[in-house]
Amino acid sequence: MSIDLRSDTVTMPSDGMRHAMANARVGDDVYDEDPEVRDLQDEVADLLGMEAALFTPSGTMANQLGLRALVRPGAELLADQDAHVVRAELGAAAVLSGITTRTWQSVEGRVRAETVQALAAPNAGSYMVSTAAIAIEDTHNFGGGSVQDHAEVLAVQRFAREHGLGLHLDGARLWNAHVASGRPLAALADGFDTVSVCLSKGLGAPVGSVLAASRDRIDEAKVWRKRFGGGMRQVGILAAAGRYALRHNVTRLVEDHDHARLLAASVGVDPRAVDTNIVIATVPNAAGFVTAAATAGVRLSTLGPDRIRLVTHLGVSTADARTAAGILERLLVGWSREATTSPAGGIS
Ligand SMILES: Cc1ncc(COP(=O)(O)O)c(C=O)c1O
Repeated sequence: MSIDLRSDTVTMPSDGMRHAMANARVGDDVYDEDPEVRDLQDEVADLLGMEAALFTPSGTMANQLGLRALVRPGAELLADQDAHVVRAELGAAAVLSGITTRTWQSVEGRVRAETVQALAAPNAGSYMVSTAAIAIEDTHNFGGGSVQDHAEVLAVQRFAREHGLGLHLDGARLWNAHVASGRPLAALADGFDTVSVCLSKGLGAPVGSVLAASRDRIDEAKVWRKRFGGGMRQVGILAAAGRYALRHNVTRLVEDHDHARLLAASVGVDPRAVDTNIVIATVPNAAGFVTAAATAGVRLSTLGPDRIRLVTHLGVSTADARTAAGILERLLVGWSREATTSPAGGIS
C-alpha cells in the first residue's frame, strides 16, 4: 500500500459519509426539488455570508460560472500567473465565455495589491481591452497552499470597488485558509462578488463544489449551469456527502497542516514556510524523483522539471506522514549526492 500525497482530491468517502449518502433525501434538482441540495446551498451561503449558492459538479464549473457572471465576452480577467483558472481549466474562460486573460507574477501565489493595480486597465477605451474582473485564489494551490494576506486582499478589493471591477474568489481550499488563519469563512469571502468552494478536496466528499454570490447572479448561474450540461437530478446523494463533510471534516484540516509541516523538512523545505496542506519542493529531475518515490511507496506529483508537490489530506494519518517523511528524506540524500557527483550533472 502506498501513501498517496499526489493531491487532496484522492480522498475516499468515509463510512459515516457513505451512510449519510445512503440516507439522503432526494428530488429532481433541476426542478429545485432536492431537499439535500437546497439545504447544502443554504448552509454554504450562510457560512460564506452570501445571499445564495449553487451546487456544481466541479470546482472548474463553479469558477467558470462565477467568471462569466463578472466578465462579458472580449473583456479581461486578471489573475495570478499560476492561478488554477488560468493554468488548469483548459482555457474554459476563453472557450466558454469569450473571456481574455492577463496575469500578474507572484511569489508563491501571494497577491500584492500594488502588482494587480499596475496591471489593471479599467475603462481602457475603444482600442485596448478593458479589465472587467480580478480573480484571487485562497489558498493558492500551485503557490504551495499559501494563505492570502488579508490586508493585501482588502487593498485589491478597495481598488476594484473604486474602478467598478468584479472580484472572484477561487476558494477551492478556503476551508484550509479559514482553519490556518483563524478568520471566519464569511470574513474571507467578504468583499468578493462570486466565491467558489470545493467539497471534494480536503473535505473528502466524492464530488461537488458550490458557487456563492448574490441572488441575481446565482439565478443567472443556474441557467448557465444547465446550458453547460451541469443540471443534475436526484443529486441529494452527493449533496449529503458535502453536508456531512461540512459537519465533520473542516476543523480536522489542522491535522493535514501539521502533517504537511512534518513532511516539509524531509524534502528540504522550512516547515515554518508551510501555511496549509501543500508542500512544494525543488529537486533535480523531479519526474525521476517522483518515480523513485513511488517505487519506495510514496506517491507525489511534479509541478515542473525540478519541482515536486506533496499534498496531505484525510487519507494520510500521522503514522503515514512519518513513514513518508522517512522514505523521502532517505531518497533525497542519495538523490542530491548523485546529482552533484554525476559527471554529466544529471540523473539517469
Ligand atoms: C484552486 C483550485 N481551484 C479549482 C479547482 C478545480 O476543481 P475541480 O477539479 O473539481 O474542477 C482546483 C482543483 O484542484 C483547484 O486546486
